[in-house]
Amino acid sequence: MRLPQPLRTPVPLISAPMAGPGGGRLAHAVSRAGGLGTFGVNDSRTPEWIRAEAEVAGAAGTPYGVGLAAWALEKHAEQLDAVIDLRPTLVSVSFGDYAPAIERLREAEILTATQIGSLDDLERAIDAGVDVIVARGGEGGGHGRNVMATLPLLQLVLDRTELPVYAAGGILNHRGLAAVLAAGAAGAWVGTAFLGTSETASTGAAKEALFAADSTGYGRVFDEAQEVDWPREYGGRSIANRFFEEWVGREEDLDESARTRFRAAVSGQDYSVAHLYAGEGVAALTHEVSAADVVAEFARAVQPPA
Ligand SMILES: Cc1cc2nc3c(=O)[nH]c(=O)nc-3n(C[C@H](O)[C@H](O)[C@H](O)COP(=O)(O)O)c2cc1C
Repeated sequence: MRLPQPLRTPVPLISAPMAGPGGGRLAHAVSRAGGLGTFGVNDSRTPEWIRAEAEVAGAAGTPYGVGLAAWALEKHAEQLDAVIDLRPTLVSVSFGDYAPAIERLREAEILTATQIGSLDDLERAIDAGVDVIVARGGEGGGHGRNVMATLPLLQLVLDRTELPVYAAGGILNHRGLAAVLAAGAAGAWVGTAFLGTSETASTGAAKEALFAADSTGYGRVFDEAQEVDWPREYGGRSIANRFFEEWVGREEDLDESARTRFRAAVSGQDYSVAHLYAGEGVAALTHEVSAADVVAEFARAVQPPA
């Protein structure tokens, strides 16, 4: 495995794109602290929004990455055009047919990554010419597959490719980073551990709900509630709140009265109903810290104790 030079950061850590909480401010703070920070772009974001977040992430020449959703690019090719113009250090395209986007990024000589959740996904990623593989287990927060856990997936993937592999899903601190480095990963791709930081775009109420939460669930409840076009094979891992428990497994029955209740809860920040995407490691979040604190904690995996 040969890690491309721009990814040889002091701490082998990439903060995962997290559309919603993870914008340019978080990406900037992570990169400044010694990892590589990224920001996530959801299907409704405009090129102007992408450029504004990139300006914050990349202030003073700071490296950053961007995470795009392949299924959204089918309708919003302008997102990819904007990102190519910006030339970030790394662009991840996941969830759907990402091959055409990877081809364009490679033509522009921009480093690419994709998140895989199965061994079939690995074959697709290799065929598409992706530079960096993110082996993401079902423990992870937000959208993805839920067919394999991080550790078995990581080991199987490392046996099958010479490409650099980052491990994702349930990596909470220096212990998890040390474990995946020992297995042969190039580093960790971490979302949930950054959700309680002061640099996220989340409100105080959302963070309090995250700090109080200790269990998550996987399903399509919140995609149905929001009527978004996520491909069905990618559910989401979120806090298992009252609304989630009520509808999981019978998402198809979700009706207009439930949607009205959901929308009201989102505007009123009632997180017993509104969605909060997070991984199984959410119980590790107890109070607000800075992104630099989180990166410094991860750095203990690669630095001798003081
Ligand atoms: C709130 C949240 C939003 C996410 N949004 C995105 C996204 O926009 N694009 C993406 O590729 N992955 C997204 N993910 C998935 C992450 O890239 C990553 O797979 C996951 O956070 C890793 O697991 P962990 O949360 O246990 O660290 C999101 C995850 C979370 C928690």
